[in-house]
Amino acid sequence: MPRIVRPTAYGTPEVLAVTSVPVPRAAADGVVVRVRAAGVNPVDWKLYSGAFHSVDDNLKDAAGITHAMPSIGLECAGVVTEVGAEVTGVDMGDEVIVHPVTAAYADYVTAPVTSVFRKPAGLGWAEAGALMLAGTTAVHALEAAGVGTEDTVLVHGGSGGVGLMGVQLAVARGATVIATAAERNHPLLRDLGATPVVYGPGLADRVRGAAPRGVTAAVDFAGTDEALDVSLELVADRQRIASIAGSPRREEAGIKLLGYGPGQDAGTEVRAIARHALVERAGSGELRVLVAATYPLAEAAQAHRAGLAGHAPGKLVLTP
Ligand SMILES: NC(=O)c1ccc[n+]([C@@H]2O[C@H](COP(=O)([O-])OP(=O)(O)OC[C@H]3O[C@@H](n4cnc5c(N)ncnc54)[C@H](OP(=O)(O)O)[C@@H]3O)[C@@H](O)[C@H]2O)c1
Repeated sequence: MPRIVRPTAYGTPEVLAVTSVPVPRAAADGVVVRVRAAGVNPVDWKLYSGAFHSVDDNLKDAAGITHAMPSIGLECAGVVTEVGAEVTGVDMGDEVIVHPVTAAYADYVTAPVTSVFRKPAGLGWAEAGALMLAGTTAVHALEAAGVGTEDTVLVHGGSGGVGLMGVQLAVARGATVIATAAERNHPLLRDLGATPVVYGPGLADRVRGAAPRGVTAAVDFAGTDEALDVSLELVADRQRIASIAGSPRREEAGIKLLGYGPGQDAGTEVRAIARHALVERAGSGELRVLVAATYPLAEAAQAHRAGLAGHAPGKLVLTP
């Protein structure tokens, strides 16, 4: 029987359980995909941690949340095994990337055909399954902060899943990129075209040293008070600071808040539009999807523990 991983209660990764379910059937406008790789994202454990209890009820479905227990796994890649009656342009056996989707921690998923993109032949399964959520989030943040050729942009959390995308995409836009990360990740960030700086006390001065002409925009993928404070100190225009995570303190700062909470910009359109170009860039090798580790589906809880503890740069991926 096909398997699915679901939280059985709110809590820590111990609440995740593998259960057997029938193979799902495709809706008329959708497909069924045999999952080969499902990207692991912090939102997956936040969904069952209780952290999102305050999320606006109307937005819960968009974030993959139901009123009972949330489904987890918002992106994957795999092989099409059933095609709905009204679907054109996708065939059985096609290798595809699927996002957005819900319940991708599974052997099979159903998805509307609007979420399905052909996987470039040269892109590995793990990379394909982990491209989209981080990639679309990074594009949204760079758009929100208006990052372009003339800018020096400060990327907080540059070695994270979103950060590695943000760094590469900002460099591709022609911006000068200063990225915060633990020292062990600096060689990688230099390789991707950024100037790395260590986060922690004295960050603002280190950034000034790395960017003598100043910082014109900031994207916060770390969500720390320090990232907020340093962005406010160094970027003159608060509308050129975009944050995807962090404490309620951000709400009074007059910066751009991106996500699914009340008063935040979900960026539905910009993220949807970004998907085609992300697939193309990843397929051509212009955009690298770095994979830190892969786990069998049954070890999803272990993957979440690694995510919570901090890990090597790159994405964690489940390979059912
Ligand atoms: N709003 C949205 O739409 C949205 C979408 C995606 C993600 N998110 C949120 O964005 C955050 C990042 O996601 P992710 O997938 O990139 O997570 P991730 O892969 O776990 O990366 C987090 C990064 O934070 C860095 N970090 C740890 N402590 C730090 C500190 N004190 N200061 C600065 N950086 C620090 C780590 O860098 P080192 O390893 O170098 O220490 C790590 O690489 C999560 O909170 C996630 O829930 C929001």
